[in-house]
Amino acid sequence: MTVLVTGGAGYIGSHTCLELLKEGHKVVVADNLCNASAKSLERVSRLAGGEEIPFVNCDLRDEEQLEALFQRWSIDCVIHFAGLKAVGESVAKPLAYYDNNLNSTITLCRVMERHGVKKIVFSSSATVYSGDNQMPLSEQSKTGSCTNPYGWTKFMCEQILRDLAKADPDWTVVLLRYFNPVGAHESGLIGEDPKGVPNNLMPFISQTAIGRRSCLSVFGNDYDTHDGTGVRDYIHVVDLARGHVAALDFLMKEKGEGVFNLGTGVGYSVLDMVHAFERANGVPVPYQIVDRRPGDLATVYSTPEKSRRELGWEATHSLEDMCRDSWNWQSKNPQGYESEE
Ligand code: NAD
Ligand code: WQD
Repeated sequence: MTVLVTGGAGYIGSHTCLELLKEGHKVVVADNLCNASAKSLERVSRLAGGEEIPFVNCDLRDEEQLEALFQRWSIDCVIHFAGLKAVGESVAKPLAYYDNNLNSTITLCRVMERHGVKKIVFSSSATVYSGDNQMPLSEQSKTGSCTNPYGWTKFMCEQILRDLAKADPDWTVVLLRYFNPVGAHESGLIGEDPKGVPNNLMPFISQTAIGRRSCLSVFGNDYDTHDGTGVRDYIHVVDLARGHVAALDFLMKEKGEGVFNLGTGVGYSVLDMVHAFERANGVPVPYQIVDRRPGDLATVYSTPEKSRRELGWEATHSLEDMCRDSWNWQSKNPQGYESEE
C-alpha cells in the first residue's frame, strides 16, 4: 500500500514512516519542515535499508501542491500528522493554530476526495477529553471544554472528519488519541528534536541530563497523587508508531469512523519519570519544585482496552525502555538533528 504521511518528517511521523516501511508499505511524505528537519527522513531511509522516501516540501494548505502530489503518486490512504502542537504558543497565537491545523485538514480532505482517496488516520490527542472525567479515560469519556486553542483544533478536526464519514459512507476515518509520547528509536538515529525550550517533560529531562538546561522545574508537588506531582500515561513512540500500522488494517477493512486511545493504561508521576531516567541511564537530573503550571490536571491516563480488542495493538515497551531510548537519542545527538554526525 502507498501511504501519504503528512508531517512525516516530525517526531511521531518519522518513527511511523519507519514502521510502515518495515511492514512493506510505501510512503510518500509531505511536510513544510516548520518544526522538523529533512535529516530525519534520510535517517529513516538508512534504517529501512536504503529504501527511498519520496518527500514533498509543501504546506498542506497549498491546494495546488497537494493536487500535484496526488497526481504524481497513486495514494491508497493518508496518515495525517501535520499540525502545530505547542499548547502555550496556541494560547498566544490562536489564529495561527486554527488556520494551520483546520485549513490543512480541510484542504487535505478536499484533495483526497477529488482523487477518490477516502481513508484517513488522524493524529488526535488526549487533550480532547474534558478535565472533569473519571480516570482511566476511555473513548466514551466526555470530550470538549478544551483548555487551549491547540486542544480545540484537535476537537474540531475530529468533528470535521466525523461529519465527512457521516455524509459519505465511502469515507473511513480513524481518530487516534495519543497520550504522552516519549522515547526514540533504539538506534538513536531518530528522535524528538524540539525547537527552543521544550514544553514537554521528557525532552526537558534529557536536555537537563546532557547539560543544555541547568535544572528541571517540576510544576507543583501538591497534587492529589502518590508523591504530589502530576501523573501521565507515557507511551514509547515506537509503540505509538506501531499503533498506526495496526490502524491501517482497520482502515482498509472497515467503513465509517473509529476512535482509539493510544496509551499504556499506566500513569507515572513527574518524579517517577525523573528517578526512572536517572536509574536507567546512570545520569543525574537536577530538579527544583516550582508552582503548578496553569491548566495542568493532577492525573491523566487511558484505558487502551478498545485498541487492544479492536486493533489487536498494545504497548510493549517499559518505562525503562522509554528512558533509555530517550537518553540514547539525546546523548548521540546533543543538539538534535543539527548535531555533527
Ligand atoms: P512534530 O511537530 O514533530 O510533527 C508535526 C509535523 O508537521 C512537523 O514535521 C511539521 O513540520 C509539520 N507541519 C506542521 N504544519 C504543517 C503544514 N501546514 N503543512 C505541512 N507540514 C506541517 O510533532 P509530533 O509530536 O510528531 O506530532 C505529530 C502529530 O501528533 C501532531 O498533529 C500533534 O498535534 C499530534 N500529537 C502529538 C502529541 C505529542 O505529545 N507529541 C500528543 C498528541 C497528539
Ligand atoms: C507532563 C507532566 C507537567 C514539563 C501535553 C499537551 C497534550 C499532549 C501531550 C499534544 C505534567 C510536568 C512538564 C516540565 C514538569 N500534546 N512537567 N516540568 O501536559 O500531559 O500534555 O503534551 O497533543 O495536549 O498538553 O505533557 O510533557 O507537558 O507534562 O513538571 O518542564 O510533566 O506539569 O504533569 P502534558 P507535558
